Parts: sequence; structure tokens; C-alpha cells
Amino acid sequence: MANKALSKAKDTKNDEFYTIYADIEKEMNAYLEYDEDVFRNKTILLPCDDPEWSNFTRYFAQNFEKLGLKKLISTSYAIESKKYKVKDWQPTLFEQQAPWFDVDKSKIKGKIFTLDHDTNRNGRIDIEDLEWKYLEGDGDFCSDEIKRLRDEADYIITNPPFSLFRDFMAWIMESKKKFAVIGNMNAITYKEVFPLLMANKVWMGATGFMSDMVFAVPKGAVVAAKDREKAAKLGYVGDYTRLGNSCWFTNIEHGRRHQPLSLMTEADNIKFSKHKDVKGVGYKKYDNYNAIHIPWVDSIPCDFNGVMGVPISFMGKYCPEQFEILGATQRGCHDAVPDTKKYDDYWEMKPNGKPTGSSGGKTNENANLVQNDGKKNYFVNKNGRIIQSAYQRIFVKFKK
Ligand SMILES: C[S@@+](CC[C@H](N)C(=O)[O-])C[C@H]1O[C@@H](n2cnc3c(N)ncnc32)[C@H](O)[C@@H]1O
Repeated sequence: MANKALSKAKDTKNDEFYTIYADIEKEMNAYLEYDEDVFRNKTILLPCDDPEWSNFTRYFAQNFEKLGLKKLISTSYAIESKKYKVKDWQPTLFEQQAPWFDVDKSKIKGKIFTLDHDTNRNGRIDIEDLEWKYLEGDGDFCSDEIKRLRDEADYIITNPPFSLFRDFMAWIMESKKKFAVIGNMNAITYKEVFPLLMANKVWMGATGFMSDMVFAVPKGAVVAAKDREKAAKLGYVGDYTRLGNSCWFTNIEHGRRHQPLSLMTEADNIKFSKHKDVKGVGYKKYDNYNAIHIPWVDSIPCDFNGVMGVPISFMGKYCPEQFEILGATQRGCHDAVPDTKKYDDYWEMKPNGKPTGSSGGKTNENANLVQNDGKKNYFVNKNGRIIQSAYQRIFVKFKK
């Protein structure tokens, strides 16, 4: 369902998913637990935000003094540049109260909000002291205007447009700044992202991984009934949805990533595992990689010295002191664990034994197992040899 919601987001080019306060606070708390001065005397840029109501702006403005910030900069993207057209758009009251308010400008210009001093002289710096003006342009993060703000900042924190995640990551990495951004778990294996995770230049955030994240959506936006219900169950009733595969990508330190996984030996897994495909069965070797197949992260055997193919969800538990990441299947990310076989002379078959018409070349570089579980498509060659591909795998081994 979560995947469906995300692909729907893609179909309608809807990037309007607004992060809830609690999710921002939880993640920032994890950084603060690790280093209480992490944001002290720092400038934080929140691009891709609508500062009038963004919870990123609210969180950092409200906590300006507690965090010891030097400056907060928050920018928004112009209404008319957004792909999703809000019906009956109206400028906010907040905007209209400013003497420089101009309805036409509000449609085509981005806005910048800054906070760095006690503008209302009430003795504290907080959300009441935010100052705003129109940007020169529409607030596109790729513009020179926003790039200059990026270069001024120490931290870039946001939930960027899902449809531009690759570009956004490239934009951040080019800046060499500290960052925390929300993305889709699928981005883990993007060829632009995975090498960064492998090199420990980027890692997963401390919270929200593999659990539902709720997002606000524009009033009246189409949300699948199930997602609306799930959001409501989590306490968010109305214009909210939930996405099950959102997560944080960051290069800010937190404690979770230094907690090693507690694991059983191979023999104990075979004896006691709660997973039917491990207990009494053991571990299969891939047909085309020199590695064993690990169906579940908690079934990684702690005494195995070779290469293991683990699910993508491993990244939420990855501790760089415990494991080394060697690569991932497909997308050219497995040089250290090369595939040893191609399947161009195989055919793809449906579970009912009927050919799909596709060549086995389709499963080259997947992690393939000699099996037919009767549930998924399989591949067969002229000698009747059968293989099936596992879901995408990350290759890891224990650090010595
Ligand atoms: C996923 S939403 C998140 C908004 C906000 N960061 C939050 O979490 O509440 C991403 C926002 O980025 C805006 N956006 C889309 N393309 C953009 C671009 N090229 N530059 C800046 N913002 C953009 C979208 O209109 C949308 O409002």
C-alpha cells in the first residue's frame, strides 16, 4: 500500500507531503542525545519548505535558543512553480499582513524566512521573531540564489520533493554540508546513493525506518482510504496520509548506528530461528554470487566469515563498526562481489509453467537461487535447470 501511495505520488507528480512535528523532533532528538551541542552556533537551512506552516521551521524556530542556533533560514517554492496545483489557492493571513505583500509576487516568487535575533524585543528569540521577504526567484533549490544560502549554511534539513530526490542528494553532496533529509527507502539502492552509504558518507537516520510515517497533504488531496485510516489510527485525522517506506538519510552522528546487532551463531539459527525458511534449513548459496542468502536481518549468523546477501532493511540496523558493506545487486554496485554467471540462455516462466516471453538476461545481476518456490516467476534453461531471483540484496561481511 505504501508503495502504491508513493507511485501515486509519482503519477500525479505530487510532491506535497508535509512532515509532522513529532517525526522531526524524534529525529533531531537522536542527534542531540549523541551530541547536545550538535547545532550550537550553527546556521540551518530549511529549503523546500513553506515557512508559514512548515513544521521544520516551527521546530527550529521554537527551539532556537535551546539548540543554541546562530541563524535559521527557511525558503519556500513559488505556488505557480509547484507541480501540484492547489485548488482555490489563497495567500495566508500572515503574508497579507506584511506591508510588502503583493498577491502576484506571492504566486511566482519563493519566500525566505530568517531568524537570528530578537526582533520584537521580548527578551527571547523564537518563532515570533521570524522575518520574511520575497526571494528574487521561485525558490528552486537548484537556483544560484538558493545555492548561495546552501553555501552559507552548516546544516541542510528538509523533506525534499520525492520526485527530485536524486538531484537533491547530488545538490547536497556537492555542498559537503551536514544534512538530514527524508526520502524513500528505495533510494538506498539508487546508484547515486548506495556508494555513499557504502563509503559511510551517508547513513540512515535514527528513527522512522520501516515504520509508518504520517504526512499532511494539501486540503482535499486524493488519499487512499486505507492510508487515511492508518494516519487516523496514528492520531492524525483529516488531510493526512501515511507512507510506510519513508526514512531519513543523514550524515549527522547518532547513537543507533553505533549499536551492534545482537545475533545468533549459524548453528543456533538453524536450531532456534523463528523463521521457517531458516530453522532446520540453514543458508543457501547464490547461484551467481560467492555469498550466502540471508532472508531476514535478524538471521545473520554471527560466526559466518564470508560474504552475505542481506535485505535492504539491513541499512536501518547497520553499524559500521560491526559490518563492512561490499556492494548491492544490480545497478553496477557490486564490483567487490562480482556476479559469476549470466542467464541469457534461460527463459522466464510464470508459476503456472507458461513462458512470459522474456529472456533470462532479465535476471542477470540479481541474486539468484537454485529453487522454485512455486509462488514467483522462475527461469529455466534447455537442460531444465531452474533458478529464481531473490529480492534486491546488499552484500556485507563482518569486520574482523
Ligand atoms: C515533500 S514536500 C515537503 C515540504 C516540507 N519540507 C515538509 O516536510 O513539510 C517537498 C516540497 O518541495 C517543493 N518543491 C518541489 N520542487 C522544488 C524545487 N525544485 N525547489 C524547491 N522546492 C521544491 C514542493 O512543492 C513541496 O512543497
